[in-house]
Formats: sequence, structure tokens, C-alpha cells
Amino acid sequence: MIFYHAEQQLFHLQGDTYSYFMQVRNGVLVHLYWGSRLPDEDISSLIPAVPVYASFDSEFNRLTYELPTQEKGYFSQQALNIVNAQGDDVCSLRYAGHEIFAGKKPIPQLPSAYEEGDAETLEITLRDPLTHISVTLSYTVYQGFDVLCRSLRIQNGGSDAVTLRNVQEASVFLPKGDYDILHLKGSHCRERNQLRTALPRGFFSLDSRRGASGHENNPFLTVMERHATQQQGKVYAMTHVYSGSFRLSTDVSIDDRPSMMIGMHPDVFTWHLEAGDTFQSPEALLVFSPNGLNGMSHRFHAFIRKRICRGVWRDAPRPILVNNWEATYFGFNEEKLLSIAEKGAAIGCELFVMDDGWFGKRDQDNCSLGDWVVDKRKLPGGLKPLGEKLNALGMRFGIWFEPEMISPDSDLYRAHPDWCLHVDGRDRTEARQQLILDMGRREVQDYLIDALSRVLESANITYVKWDMNRNMTEGFSCVLPKERKLESQHRYMLGLYRVLDVITKHFPHVLFESCSGGGGRFDCGMLCYMPQTWTSDDTDAYERLGIQWGTSMVYPASTMGAHVSVVPNHQTMRITPFETRCNVALGGNFGFELDLSKLSDEDTEKAIAAVKTVKELRTVLQQGTFSRLIDPTVHDNLCAWQFLSEDESQLVVCVYQRRVKPNVQPERVYMASLPADSRYRRADTGDTYSGSALMNVGLPIPTTWTDYDSWVYRFEKV
Ligand code: GLA
Repeated sequence: MIFYHAEQQLFHLQGDTYSYFMQVRNGVLVHLYWGSRLPDEDISSLIPAVPVYASFDSEFNRLTYELPTQEKGYFSQQALNIVNAQGDDVCSLRYAGHEIFAGKKPIPQLPSAYEEGDAETLEITLRDPLTHISVTLSYTVYQGFDVLCRSLRIQNGGSDAVTLRNVQEASVFLPKGDYDILHLKGSHCRERNQLRTALPRGFFSLDSRRGASGHENNPFLTVMERHATQQQGKVYAMTHVYSGSFRLSTDVSIDDRPSMMIGMHPDVFTWHLEAGDTFQSPEALLVFSPNGLNGMSHRFHAFIRKRICRGVWRDAPRPILVNNWEATYFGFNEEKLLSIAEKGAAIGCELFVMDDGWFGKRDQDNCSLGDWVVDKRKLPGGLKPLGEKLNALGMRFGIWFEPEMISPDSDLYRAHPDWCLHVDGRDRTEARQQLILDMGRREVQDYLIDALSRVLESANITYVKWDMNRNMTEGFSCVLPKERKLESQHRYMLGLYRVLDVITKHFPHVLFESCSGGGGRFDCGMLCYMPQTWTSDDTDAYERLGIQWGTSMVYPASTMGAHVSVVPNHQTMRITPFETRCNVALGGNFGFELDLSKLSDEDTEKAIAAVKTVKELRTVLQQGTFSRLIDPTVHDNLCAWQFLSEDESQLVVCVYQRRVKPNVQPERVYMASLPADSRYRRADTGDTYSGSALMNVGLPIPTTWTDYDSWVYRFEKV
């Protein structure tokens, strides 16, 4: 619900479990409160105006601006910097009106959350009387989902062009407190490992300037009470629906007021806004949880599954796949692929994914990106007969593309050497021996829509892995005039989103999985088009625990690709038991990425059993509520999580141990968020326990003689 108290000029955004208050005070929109849900009442007298006292600074430096800009001695971080026709960036935004309406408008040209008759939106317009710049802040509140969506659009109502130098789409002040921050950091093969530290004083930021959200920092940040755990404590979190460079920041001012912000990265963004034109920001997603990190993740997961992911695959059981990348790399032909697929079909897999190497003359990663034409040396009959043979085995056919890239050794590059991002007179820096197409250009977008559509129409393809294997260097479009050069990165994103929008709407039956050297672009922007992401190129079971644990902070299991691969593992050389590799992979969209035709009889039996289990549990794994139980970054030897079905009738508890320890007391795993009085029967022993006992007494973890052992316990409500 959204309430407006006209006399007090007070806005109250009330979700199912949170409230968010703002007030217009002397024309300035100030933030009052974000936290647990309150009844609709006037709380403004509890939050007095800035005390007037003798101070070196003006009172404006103490205001909790809803949208801080450069004005009147406001010295903290600013959400918006617009250089006006006079050359300064002072902008005194004052309340000019608001509108409350049912529903939520899609954001033009950008991905955004959608509604199904369950949303209400408030738009507040602020205006600067001198420059006539106006900013409309948009807030959407859902019924049944505890995520607040925020975005803004800037309209240049003046008579001269202005330059947007910094656009942070959401900024919010938090109550004074003793806080930690938690964020997800990493690199290629080490994505999204959680890091928790004390909230630093002053300014702190995590970011990407890479032209992609990146492996290094996920666009997600949590500020939480120092004592917060998975189950308890207040947690404030932000992410956004955008896949490009970003900045997330916190600022603890000298008078101890914390604030946090999210937006595009100001170092790699400007926008030239002509008189009369409008600029639209990406959309931020804000979550407040009064019940710890699991409470935060439950809110993100439910929302991302139902209001970010869309299309026929949103709720459909995700196919168990076999992918040939780690099995063959570039060295395959039709016969080899079919030998893997045949064994996959016998094991119970449902989809075969042909990875990199099927097009151009791509025997290595040094050529052919852009030439989306089948390599007849490897697949003499082309894609159609391969698809038919896979379908005859009972398998769907999936294919890999890396559409945004161009190899210097490609027919496309020879024909269009200026289609890549570059700077005239400078080296075109290669990474993985490839360059990046200028997705901001319409002719490049149209080429890709056409080339990809032709491939997808040429065979019965029902899955696409959409890869993106390098970041931007000299990331500028050669067709933009100099005052617009720094728009290149954002224009790239708008172009990419147009291509994704057209292709995914044109092929609605195709399941798309995004990838970027593994999880280098795991964000809500991509998830609007593709309900799955390849979580990491690291398939080592032990490393995956930290990666999937961190990823689960924001993203539900149904968005994470997780595959069983060979040992010694190709990324770490570690040897882990086959069952544990399966037990880790069932924490996401389960698949195999190894040469199944070479699997021993013993492992084949285990693979068959794992596939059977995944099929039995798929609904609870993909649509249930996921809770983290034992934190592998805190416990020196264990990791555990659980899935509880939507109707709370099925519970799956997964426990992973690192190494055998002699002569220790058995550890216990305590379940979470169960209905206390319900009784659950443990499938393997038949014993029944109350939800209360499972949460408070916990289950003993068996003693074992195997390093990297693991257990999956199944319970059913009786
Ligand atoms: C990236 C992906 C891998 C694989 C290769 C192919 O690294 O993350 O899964 O598809 O590209 O080149």
C-alpha cells in the first residue's frame, strides 16, 4: 500500500513486512524511515527536523536528502551530478508534485521487474527552479513480495543541453547503528565468495568499470546489524536490474549517519541530454529483512523467481543437461557428441548442450567469433540432423553462442573492422584473442538478430548458452561524437538489451542460460531475459560450496547452473567423491560436464541414482525456500543448506564436510524456518521429529572416513 498524508506531505510505502517513509520539508524531499512494517500513522514528529545550532556547516549538510545533489553545502556523497549550461553542477531539487497509481510501468529500453496486478507505484517529481531540470523518482511496492523497486528519470526542461555526470538510482540513509557489511567478491573461477567486514567510516565502494557486472564484485551490498546472523538481525540490502559497470557505496558521515547508494559507475558514464530530452536510470531493488540474512535471501529469491524471471521457463522444471565443454573442449565431431549424448540419455539426462567450437573454423579460441555458420568439418550434415538424432535419443538440443564478440580472425571482422569497440590510433587490446562488438550500433544489433535467428530456425534448438568472455578495454564507439563518447558503455547495454528482447521474444520456447566466463555477468538484468546463469567455470565440488553459498545471498537456486565434472578437477586438480559432486550440483540446475561415455560402471550407477533423485526433488529444489544453515566461511570444516517446499511438506537438507577429523564430538546441523508443530519423517530411517526438534536439537552429522563427504537428508511432513 502507498499512503500520502497531504497535510504533513508525508509518504508511506508499506510492504507486507517493511515500511519506508519520506516527507517534504520546506520543499526538500527527505528520507525518514526504512525498516519493519509500521501501521499507517504520522511518525514525522518522531524524526525532528535538523537541530539548529551554532555549527560551521549549514543545516543542509545534516539533511537526509532522498536524492542528494550538489547544493547549499551538502558535503556527503551525491546521487546525482548534472553539469548545466552554465558549467556548474548545483541542482536544488524541490518537490513539484506526485502521482500514485496501480501497477508498474515497464522501463523503456531497460530490463525491469514486472507486475501481475500486485503492484502500486508512487512517482514524485522534483524540480530545480533555475535550470528547469526535473527528476521523477519512482517507487513500486508489491503485495506478496517484500522488495521495493526504485528508479529515476531526468528530464531536461531547460533550453540548453546538460551533461549527466553521475546517476545513482537509489540512495538511502540508515539509522545510526553498529553495522557490518557483506558483499560478494571474487574473480574468474572464484565468483561471489562472501566477505563480511565492519562497515567502514567514511566512503566505501565496490564496483565494476568493466562494461559488465563482472566476476570481481557482484552488484549487491548488505548493511546489517553487527550481531545479525542467518536467522536474526536487521539487514538492509540492494542490488539492481542492470548488467553493466556499476558502483555500490556506503558512506558514514562525520556525525555517524550511514547511507548506501547504487547506480551506474560515474567513472565510465556521462550522458549528453539535449533540451527537452529524458534519461532513464536502471532499476534498484531494495530489501529490508528484520530476520537476518536468510530473511533477506527469501525475499530476493521469491521476487527474482516470480517478478524478474519470466516466460515459459519461469516455473517449468529445468532440464537435466549434459554439456560437452569439459568433455571435449574444441576437439569434437558429431560422432563424439552423440556418444556422450547416448550415455546421457541412458542415465536420464534431458538436454544435450553443444558448447564452443561448432562454427567457423574454431579449433581454438583464436578465431571465428562472429561467423555463426556451422563448421562442416565437425558436423558434415549441419545442425538439423544432429538435432534430430538427439531428439531420437529423447534429448533436447542446446547450443552455445558468444554473440557480443568478434575475433580479429573472422570473416565478420574482415568485412567490418570498425564494428568493434575501439579508439582510433590506439591498439585494440585483445583478451582471449577477441574484441567486443559495438552493441550500441543498430547495424550490429540487426546483424546479430539475423545471424542468431537463422541458426535457431535451422534446427530444433530449445536451449541457448549465451556467453561473453572478456571485458571492455578502449570501450568506445567510433560512431559517437566526442561529447557522447563516454555514453558508449551504457549505449552498449541498451543495444544488448534490445537484441536480447527481440531474440527471446522471437524464440519464447527456448531456455536461455547466460554465461560470462562462468558467472561474470550474474545479475538481475540478464535474468530478465534468461532465467539461468552458468554460476562459475570452477566445477570443483569443494570450491563450488563457497561460490553457491555466496550466490544464494541474492539469487535463487533455480538461476544457478551446477554441473558434475571429472576428477582430478580441471580447475583445481582436486579429487572429490562422485556422490559429493552430485550432491553439490543438486544445489542448482543440475547437469553433467564430462565425457559420460567414459564413465565407469560404478559411477554410471551413481549418476543414474543422482538423476533419479534430482527428478524426484526438482520441484522443491527449484521452487522451494532455500535457507543457509552452516556457513563454510565461518565453520572450518562444514557447509549446510536446506530446501523447504512451498507447501512446507518436503524438506531436503544438504550437508558437506571438508575433511575427516579424528576423535571429535559429532557436529550437528540445525534446520531453519520450519513450522514448529509439524512433524517430519526422515526418509532413510522412518523416524519422525517435530519441526521444533529439528531446529533446536538438530541432526547429528555422521562420523566418516572420507574427505569431502556429503549427505542429503530427505524429510516429509506426516
Ligand atoms: C566460457 C564458459 C565456458 C565455456 C567456454 C567456451 O569460459 O564459461 O563454460 O563455454 O567459454 O569457450
